[in-house]
Amino acid sequence: MLVLAIESSCDETAAALVRDGRQVLGNVIASQVDIHAEYGGVVPELAARQHLRACPLVIEQALRQGGATLEQVEGVAVTCGPGLIGALLVGVSTATALAYARRVPLVGVHHIEGHILAILLEQRVEFPFLALAVSGGHTHLYRVDAIGSYQLIGQTLDDAVGEAFDKVAKMTGLGYPGGPVIDKLAQRGDAQRFKFPRPMLHKPGCNFSFSGIKTAVLNQVKKLPQPLDEQTLCDIAAGFQAAAVEVLVSKALRAAQDNDLERVVVAGGVACNSALRHECERRLTARGMEVFFPSPLLCADNAAMLAVAGNYYLEHGYTSPLDLNARANWPLQTVTAPLQGLAAAEE
Ligand code: KG4
Ligand code: ZN
Repeated sequence: MLVLAIESSCDETAAALVRDGRQVLGNVIASQVDIHAEYGGVVPELAARQHLRACPLVIEQALRQGGATLEQVEGVAVTCGPGLIGALLVGVSTATALAYARRVPLVGVHHIEGHILAILLEQRVEFPFLALAVSGGHTHLYRVDAIGSYQLIGQTLDDAVGEAFDKVAKMTGLGYPGGPVIDKLAQRGDAQRFKFPRPMLHKPGCNFSFSGIKTAVLNQVKKLPQPLDEQTLCDIAAGFQAAAVEVLVSKALRAAQDNDLERVVVAGGVACNSALRHECERRLTARGMEVFFPSPLLCADNAAMLAVAGNYYLEHGYTSPLDLNARANWPLQTVTAPLQGLAAAEE
């Protein structure tokens, strides 16, 4: 099945053409980072307007890259939540209109489900596995038993880890988005110079909290002579990153052990982080676990990732109605309700 996928939940407008939920023929991402950078974060209204401009262009380009025409598309998959409502609505309306015009089935996909399954475009991963979903809006641990079957094991009680990277970058004048620049500076920094807290590390359970680390960084920054010199910026980046990564890896390890899971998939924009990749490899493989990271292009927001679940649902006859709505808030567990039967029937 040839699926056209559309993603517009935040500040990337993306379209992809994917065959059989596996073979990426076209994958186009138009980033809005330059538009939002001067505001230090995503401005929802500007994001929606830019999606309107970019959506037809990325679709055309993805089709061209894939060497196909709209007439050959057999199904449409779109992120319908969670995300910025105005931004989501652009993708959902476009997808709905295309599905209606071409008389092909439509399926709405959960953004985080897309991130978690992106790895299947590149590697074989046996179910069940633990998914650590880390992005600008999510820090969640799920047990994944099949496509469509996600059990929440832990989540952040306040900020998402990507949000913490972005806020630390903003308070130190490093710009937006914060993750990539902190990752880069941290490589030249001394993580021991400033010791930041590891919230909830020794508390039972698999939940996270990142607002405490962020506040500790702010308090530290206020005590230092301004403007911060370059080495101090690198040391703050290294200290913050080490704290965030230690908590993420420790909780992922605990979640995998508590749930007898031998495979761990790390997904979402923060999965690009070099220290997170390194520490996961080091600590999880030392305990005999297998760790999977998608390549950076498939970690960050993209549309190809939606086609894994999208193709699976469409092939199993699970489609969304043409009045599909966007949902700003949408816990992943509720996605699975109509699909539990499907997953169980396959076993
Ligand atoms: O998945 P994503 O592209 O969009 C959302 O769904 O939120 O994730 C974006 C987040 C941002 O917070 C960004 O700062 C973070 O991922 N990020 C990183 C890195 N690259 C992107 N965080 C840490 N290290 C990185 N190398
Ligand atoms: Zn995302």
